[in-house]
Amino acid sequence: MLLLAIVLFAHWQDFSSLHIGQPGRAAWAGAAAAGWATWAVAVAWPRRRLDARQAPNGILVVHASQTGFATELAERTAGLLRAGGMAVDLREMAALTAADLSSHARALFVASTTGEGDAPDNATAFQREVMRSAIDLHHLTYAVLALGDRDYEDFCAFGRDLDRWLRERGAMPWFDRVDVDNGDDGALRHWQGQVTQLAGAEEQPDWSRPAYQSWRLRERRLLNPGSAGAPCFHVSLVPDDGMHLRWDAGDIAEIGPRRGRGHDELLPHREYSVASVPADGELHLVVRQQRSPDGALGAGSGWLTALAQEGDTIDLRVRRNAGFHAPADARPVLLIGNGTGIAALRALLKTRVARGHMRNWLVFGERHERVDRLHVDELENWRADGAIERLDLVWSRESRGPRYVQDRLRGAGDALRCFIGEGASIYVCGSLAGMAPGVDAALREVLGDRQVEALAAAGRYRRDVY
Ligand SMILES: Cc1cc2nc3c(=O)[nH]c(=O)nc-3n(C[C@H](O)[C@H](O)[C@H](O)COP(=O)(O)OP(=O)(O)OC[C@H]3O[C@@H](n4cnc5c(N)ncnc54)[C@H](O)[C@@H]3O)c2cc1C
Ligand SMILES: Cc1cc2nc3c(=O)[nH]c(=O)nc-3n(C[C@H](O)[C@H](O)[C@H](O)COP(=O)(O)O)c2cc1C
Repeated sequence: MLLLAIVLFAHWQDFSSLHIGQPGRAAWAGAAAAGWATWAVAVAWPRRRLDARQAPNGILVVHASQTGFATELAERTAGLLRAGGMAVDLREMAALTAADLSSHARALFVASTTGEGDAPDNATAFQREVMRSAIDLHHLTYAVLALGDRDYEDFCAFGRDLDRWLRERGAMPWFDRVDVDNGDDGALRHWQGQVTQLAGAEEQPDWSRPAYQSWRLRERRLLNPGSAGAPCFHVSLVPDDGMHLRWDAGDIAEIGPRRGRGHDELLPHREYSVASVPADGELHLVVRQQRSPDGALGAGSGWLTALAQEGDTIDLRVRRNAGFHAPADARPVLLIGNGTGIAALRALLKTRVARGHMRNWLVFGERHERVDRLHVDELENWRADGAIERLDLVWSRESRGPRYVQDRLRGAGDALRCFIGEGASIYVCGSLAGMAPGVDAALREVLGDRQVEALAAAGRYRRDVY
């Protein structure tokens, strides 16, 4: 068809000089016009695409991440492209506007899913504003790496939504979306291969997750003896080979649980917020022991809290979670959490105290004041020393006072507005069920939807909830 159209168009003069009647001429003219249009679509338009590919803005690499993995993969993707000599514009999705999409010809997205099929927090403004707009993306070529876990009902929901939306707006997929189930190496290798090819870069070693390092269980201590809830342990680990300790508060320890002492086989990894800073000389975790109704121990928590013994080797690697790092400056910080959420909040507080950043307000919830004291003595010492400006301990099973952290926030509305007005950032860590949505609703009640959304978009409202 294309060839016919080109022949017709090229010989239009010849054809028009033949003795053909009016209707015949009209038919020929129509065929030539169709030919022109076909040629324009098939040849000239892709050329326009190609020209756009050489646009000065380089290639956008966008990450939408809740706990850091998508960010890490986006950084690696950017590294590959740069290795191939490409200019890269690496962006958190919170900082991505419709204008950015219009001014770039190529974009790679690395997007995880959180909650129950939800977009990560740093993507909600984009989802609400840009993904509901009628932006024309016919000029854009893109690819999506979608991170998820098949144990969840809505596997890779946000990555899939993003892909669908880009297509609907006219963007052209470079290659099919790559879905990653729980960090699956094969899928990551596939993405890496596609990007390497795109960049014309040299073959690189596989991106499979870094190997575990050997750590030693130095100490394990029950933090809540007598609690009505599940036992919760302080777990202290040191590297086996005296290697240099390096992580930031907010980072996550990935553990390779074993089925028992002496078992070689590792199960899928489990994640725990790091509760200490390198200056402690130890990596601390706060781990709640989980059991199924028939009494079987959870794989990760069982290994760390019951099966492994002091002195045993623990397979561990630390994953960077830049979205939950402490602010570098001295701005006020409001830390909110419950239960094992104290782990990351404790590490953040240690970092802040070490830097002399004392404008810290902590709202922490557990059940009973007498027994559920997860590092609470330490918190009270910090308050006494002035390292915590305000400490709200909220006990849900005591008869007096508000029951949950969100109730305390509502009751402290004026102070909360004032703190945020002074530039505070908010960090929420702990349960996804109950606490996180409850806190979100309370913040919206006190501050209003717009301010909460503006805080999230500015990276001043961060959550590490599970
Ligand atoms: C970013 C992040 C940070 C985290 N930080 C912490 C932290 O600081 N502290 C912490 O304690 N946790 C934390 N978690 C949770 C942690 O990763 C694990 O999910 C948790 O310890 C449970 O894992 P498990 O392997 O012990 O249980 P699993 O083996 O995964 O089982 C989960 C639950 O299901 C039950 N179960 C298992 N099999 C069955 C069955 N056949 N029938 C019925 N029930 C069953 C288990 O007993 C358990 O209650 C974090 C999670 C994330 C994502
Ligand atoms: C609290 C929580 C909720 C999650 N919800 C989903 C989900 O609904 N669908 C899915 O496919 N994956 C889900 N996941 C899995 C994550 O998408 C997956 O672990 C991903 O690698 C995390 O990437 P990130 O660190 O960039 O956020 C969830 C993970 C967590 C911790």
